[in-house]
Amino acid sequence: MELNLSGMVGQSACLAEVLRVLAKVAPTDSTVLVTGESGTGKELLVRALHANSRRAGKPFVPVNCGAIPRELLESELFGHEKGAFTSAVRTRQGRFELAEGGTIFLDEIGEMDLSLQVKILRALQEKEYERVGGDKTLKADVRIVAATNRDLETEVAAGRFREDLYYRLNVIPLHLPPLRERGQDILLLADYFLGRFCRQKSRPTLTFSPEARGLVLGYPWPGNVRELENFMERLSILCDSEVVGIEDLPRKILDHAGVAPPPPVALAEAGFRWPTLADLAEKSMGLKEFMDTLEEKLLIEALGKASGVKNQAAELLGIKRTTLIEKLKKRNMAGD
Ligand SMILES: Nc1ncnc2c1ncn2[C@@H]1O[C@H](COP(=O)(O)OP(=O)(O)OP(=O)(O)O)[C@@H](O)[C@H]1O
Ligand SMILES: [Mg+2]
Repeated sequence: MELNLSGMVGQSACLAEVLRVLAKVAPTDSTVLVTGESGTGKELLVRALHANSRRAGKPFVPVNCGAIPRELLESELFGHEKGAFTSAVRTRQGRFELAEGGTIFLDEIGEMDLSLQVKILRALQEKEYERVGGDKTLKADVRIVAATNRDLETEVAAGRFREDLYYRLNVIPLHLPPLRERGQDILLLADYFLGRFCRQKSRPTLTFSPEARGLVLGYPWPGNVRELENFMERLSILCDSEVVGIEDLPRKILDHAGVAPPPPVALAEAGFRWPTLADLAEKSMGLKEFMDTLEEKLLIEALGKASGVKNQAAELLGIKRTTLIEKLKKRNMAGD
């Protein structure tokens, strides 16, 4: 069966390995623990897991355990009976009930209190739970998938996470490698996001100059795929030309590569440039004629600046007064 990747992009060997395990474990009901740094795509991976399971037609219910106040998390997960606490004015279903038949995703499970961890363990092992303030035992036909960017073994050693729950969750570990270890996936994702954002904004797709590509590839992306995605969105809004050059890259990428930001384009164009053979050809001049003309222009400019005072003009040109007069005579410009 073709794997539904739910929009996961990447061809690196380390991601392929994760997807190989995903394809095997998805159709089973096993508990999966997804680990990885922030922004590596843990939620996307869990969605792909659900999409490839036999529960795909049933709800997928994510719960961010770190974002819900501790005292509310239990009732959020298991629901409550009317009157269970002061604000419980009516009976309410919890997320386990809403996920019935499907998958519940316990994100940031490392943030959960020890007392609630016991109840999750029971829901996992006995498939049973009670609403807060309720005495009726409810049955849960729910697959539990958890994720964390903490090192749960360290949390267990520190007494902040139950060892039995850790082993029960960690039946099938899926570890998402940080983006910096995925090599060319960085560029694949960069092009993918850039294409998507440019289409959304109905502008032609931006491409990278070779130098900019090199710097994007070499940057360690501490915020992983999320950081890369946000940066591509920014480019799709702020980059004026159709090619992303190094001047469009943020300071942190240039600093990492030890590259000084180039001067703005307008300044660079107005700056000094030595004449080239092409300039001689364009003016149809030989070397002597070109040099004489150049010299004449500078003499005239200097005289103009000095209001015709030869001493001053010579000083501006860095030559002796007598040399200046000689040059002017040759050109019949000496005046009196
Ligand atoms: N391989 C990928 N292909 C395409 N998009 C990706 C990929 N990995 C991650 N993303 C996108 O990057 C963003 C972050 O991914 P996600 O929310 O899944 O990361 P996370 O590991 O759950 O992060 P956090 O730890 O901060 O919760 C999302 O917008 C997601 O769609
Ligand atoms: Mg997440």
